[in-house]
Amino acid sequence: MEKSEKPIVIGTIGAGYAAYLHGDGYRHVSGVPVRLKTVCDLNLELASKVKERFGYEQVTGSYADMLADPEIDVIDIVTPPFLHCPMAIQAMRAGKHVICEKPLTGYFGEPGQERVGDVPKREMYRKILETMDQLKQVVEETGKRFLYAENFVYATPIRKAARLIQAKKSKILFLQGFVGLKGSSSPAAGQWNKTGGGQLMRNGTHPLTGMLWLKQQEAQARGETITVRSVTADVGTTTACLNEYEHRHISARPEDVEDYAAVSVTFSDGTKCLTIASDTVLGGTQNTLDVFCNDSALRCQITPPKLLDTYFLDEEGLEEEPLGEMLPSKLGWNGAFVSDDVIRGYAGEMQDFMEAVAYGRPAASGFDLAYETARILYAAYQSAEEGRRIDF
Ligand SMILES: NC(=O)c1ccc[n+]([C@@H]2O[C@H](COP(=O)([O-])OP(=O)(O)OC[C@H]3O[C@@H](n4cnc5c(N)ncnc54)[C@H](O)[C@@H]3O)[C@@H](O)[C@H]2O)c1
Repeated sequence: MEKSEKPIVIGTIGAGYAAYLHGDGYRHVSGVPVRLKTVCDLNLELASKVKERFGYEQVTGSYADMLADPEIDVIDIVTPPFLHCPMAIQAMRAGKHVICEKPLTGYFGEPGQERVGDVPKREMYRKILETMDQLKQVVEETGKRFLYAENFVYATPIRKAARLIQAKKSKILFLQGFVGLKGSSSPAAGQWNKTGGGQLMRNGTHPLTGMLWLKQQEAQARGETITVRSVTADVGTTTACLNEYEHRHISARPEDVEDYAAVSVTFSDGTKCLTIASDTVLGGTQNTLDVFCNDSALRCQITPPKLLDTYFLDEEGLEEEPLGEMLPSKLGWNGAFVSDDVIRGYAGEMQDFMEAVAYGRPAASGFDLAYETARILYAAYQSAEEGRRIDF
């Protein structure tokens, strides 16, 4: 592959938590020069912090100005999900490639509408397909790259599992993805109009996409075409049974969203994948993905990575040194997160995206995967509400 000389120029929109994940990702990119030019946020203070931390050249509060900058090649969208599709459409129409955070989109209700989670899920499903089809048309018309920032596709244990499956041409019979945490402290996480759903949308989407991607790797290796045939799901609000005192260790405060989801997908070859997402799991964030094949079993331990166990009797000197995620303290035994940006795939995704732009090739995680994931998530909500399997 020829070495690229011209830097790829990035404009990032959104300077919150995920902007730091992407910033860490860009730091790892090698072989493709990257120039972090502009970071845009309504909150210029947050934008300035990101600028200083990662070495962007300037900040702006105007998305239109950033889009009008002819030097910028890629718009990196790390805003809340309700902005993903409209911002991607604007960016692509302005001639930019797009990196877009998960989930691609959701149903967020009409302005002023209360308890959006009560809207029939069948209606939500129809609406998100409309939104995604508009974007699909723009992706096709402009020919620009749509790079879907689903880090699970690049998580190093999942990557290795994919290589093993491809080498052996294994048939994956059953996959199981689990994501559990003690809930988000953000009130937005409890409201459907802010997140487009609950824990399934916020975090269940990660293992689901990882498993869909793995089935595609299997299909490619075996020369098969594998699609999704049906979706069956159950969701619930398990914390509703707790009184205030009992609730004290769990941050999840679901108002009109779920704090638990189990989604079973059946593929066209009759095989299955199961996603379990819970917002009530104590003991630190857990992300696992198991792959059971006709000839092998592969267990991807993403977090905690089980590379370093720590034991502390006090936290002196550790104030700026995180150990894990969602742990109330650093005392006693803990499973520390090691090389989180690499193992969880933030480094790999940016490397792939920059190469995709530099060499004009598709990324491993692109528009089709983003679309399929969102479709399954909303089919799952419809299945859970109507108590039946949704056939595709
Ligand atoms: N892949 C992952 O592991 C991961 C982790 C966290 C978040 N995310 C995703 O990243 C996205 C952002 O999440 P976050 O946690 O960073 O949220 P956040 O609330 O911390 O940050 C979002 C930022 O966008 C800014 N913003 C909102 N509207 C804007 C507008 N119109 N113009 C400019 N700026 C605007 C806000 O001011 C805020 O600073 C979400 O889609 C989320 O799902 C992904």
